[in-house]
Amino acid sequence: MPSPEESGMLKENALKGKTIIVTGGGTGLGKAMGTYFLKLGANLVITSRKLDVLQKTATEMEAESGGKVLALACDVRNYSEVENMRQKAIERFGSVNALLNNAAGNFISPTERLSANAFSTIIDIVLKGSVNCSLALGKYWIKESMPGNILNIVTTYAFTGSAYVVPSACAKGGVLAMTRSLAAEWGRHKIRTNAIAPGPFPTKGAWERLLPGDMAEKFDFKNRVPLKRVGEHQEIANLAAYLISDFSGYINGDVITIDGGEWLQGAGQFNGLEMVTSDMWDNIEQLTRSTKR
Ligand code: HXC
Ligand code: NAP
Repeated sequence: MPSPEESGMLKENALKGKTIIVTGGGTGLGKAMGTYFLKLGANLVITSRKLDVLQKTATEMEAESGGKVLALACDVRNYSEVENMRQKAIERFGSVNALLNNAAGNFISPTERLSANAFSTIIDIVLKGSVNCSLALGKYWIKESMPGNILNIVTTYAFTGSAYVVPSACAKGGVLAMTRSLAAEWGRHKIRTNAIAPGPFPTKGAWERLLPGDMAEKFDFKNRVPLKRVGEHQEIANLAAYLISDFSGYINGDVITIDGGEWLQGAGQFNGLEMVTSDMWDNIEQLTRSTKR
């Protein structure tokens, strides 16, 4: 029997009748979340720049789930491409009910080594791309008086910041601000906006760009996580499906962290003391108690 981390959580048909757009849906976490949405009965639109990758994924997904997938090339940096993608999705499925802003670009570098274009490339994909898709779908839902649902994938460094990925941190911080702002503004139109902040979930795209070469061994993410493991793709798929589903209908403007406690581990002043042995704690206790006497 599969473990809870590897099992689907929602009831059968929990997303039946919904059409969901997943940006960056051909690879990694977008592919994992989209596959689960399909298994729960949704129609799926997957988009990114590489049509060949999307078409291969769409074929795999349809075979695995029996659902319907539309693969569309769309660079989220370009608003006219986003409008065209929305139009094609409506033509194919009749309407669109939810948007998962998952597409991202990132690489690791000391900030002073970056060109201005390198910095703005990341801002354009992550922040402007999420803005473009949210705006295109929000305009459509409000015009048609339809409820809508926007789910943004950010990171935990959207709230803490992080060295060496500064363009991504700036952009994800902006996406988080957009999440809370739109939740307040568009709630009255029955458009919910939420975010997920994942910790480490190994994917080819992220690991090749953030931990190239032997960095993956030298900087093993699981050592930073109190639970001493990385995330399973099904775990984020379960959370995303819940937030996209009507079961989370009263959640609006929130960001849910799914990181095994990683960012809090880095934040607490004394959290690094996990290397203190039991003998050392005996010694420390003796010393601290003796100061009282
Ligand atoms: C410094 C770099 C660089 C690098 C590119 N550039 N790579 N600068 N270090 N490693 C510079 C280029 O020289 C150029 O600037 C500018 O960035 C744009 O580069 P292009 O290659 O023309 O951009 P483009 O083809 O649009 O590709 C975008 C990309 C690429 C972001 C650079 O990596 C990509 O396509 N990424 C998509 C997938 C991805 O990144 N997935 C990971 C998401 S992970 P100049 O000045 O020379 O013109 C994530 C997780 C976070 O977000 C948390 C994990 C735990
Ligand atoms: P990934 O597989 O590299 O996914 C990124 C996707 O974005 C790709 O499918 C890529 O497809 C697409 N994309 C990039 N630029 C685009 C553009 N201009 N227009 C449209 N699509 C574009 O990496 P991942 O790890 O699954 O990341 C998915 C999301 O999770 C991202 O938002 C990332 O920041 C977030 N995240 C991941 C982790 C992790 O540990 N993996 C942790 C925290 C947050 P094309 O190249 O075909 O365009």
